[in-house]
Amino acid sequence: MNDMTALVAGTQQTLERIASDFTPAVFASSLAAEDMVLTDLILKAKLPIDIFTLETGRLHAETLNVIDRIKETYGYDVALYRPEPAAVDAYVQQNGLDAFYDSIDLRKECCRIRKIEPLGRALAGNKAWITGQRRAQSTTRAALDIQEDDPAHGMSKFNPLADWSEQDVWDYIRSNNVPYNSLHDKGYPSIGCEPCTRAIAPGEDVRAGRWWWENPDTKECGLHVVDGKLIRIKPVSA
Ligand code: ADX
Ligand code: SF4
Repeated sequence: MNDMTALVAGTQQTLERIASDFTPAVFASSLAAEDMVLTDLILKAKLPIDIFTLETGRLHAETLNVIDRIKETYGYDVALYRPEPAAVDAYVQQNGLDAFYDSIDLRKECCRIRKIEPLGRALAGNKAWITGQRRAQSTTRAALDIQEDDPAHGMSKFNPLADWSEQDVWDYIRSNNVPYNSLHDKGYPSIGCEPCTRAIAPGEDVRAGRWWWENPDTKECGLHVVDGKLIRIKPVSA
């Protein structure tokens, strides 16, 4: 077995174990490259794991297009969770549509309304949720485990690609013809909401284009916190 075959086999086993031991489980897909690897593995194996996206109302057209590509390729409808319209209206009226550039608090409040509250609804009633996070993605993810406790949501949380490198992700996508977000070909290795994501220059950190006006240590939207706090972990490069 070569390295890639072993990596994929291990990830398939993790997903099968989640499907059998943590019913019901859901997969949170941002529709970026990592999440397309997991989408392909879950849907090809016909695992009973529902896939949802937090449709913040600020995603790129290219990202939304991936939802149609998933339907064409796998015949699967990704569930979409949207923010409460009244909360969005109140934020915009009080602070302005793009107030997230003004302060970290206003940025976190926008993420809370557009991502965290809908995430709570998407996860309600499940025993586990799955993410596409990888250890090598950022300083805040350097100690990521494949299986974690998520006390904030009262369930287990799985990061089946924790050990995968960026190269592994792209090798899998190319060799299995997995559809992917076209922004990845335009200098976007990491993709979030449109106003909070920019392309990066060759050699820049893969998350350099996310909330680029903030310090690297604050650059998480709150989807991946424990007890309301970000876990501060040793930097990858230290
Ligand atoms: S973020 O916290 O900085 O936004 P990132 O974009 O790296 O996260 O994605 C990490 C994982 O969080 C994804 O693999 C996915 O599981 C989940 N995630 C991020 N954004 C969304 C979204 N809009 N909808 C569903 N899941 C998401
Ligand atoms: Fe708002 Fe930006 Fe967070 Fe999206 S990433 S929810 S636009 S602050």
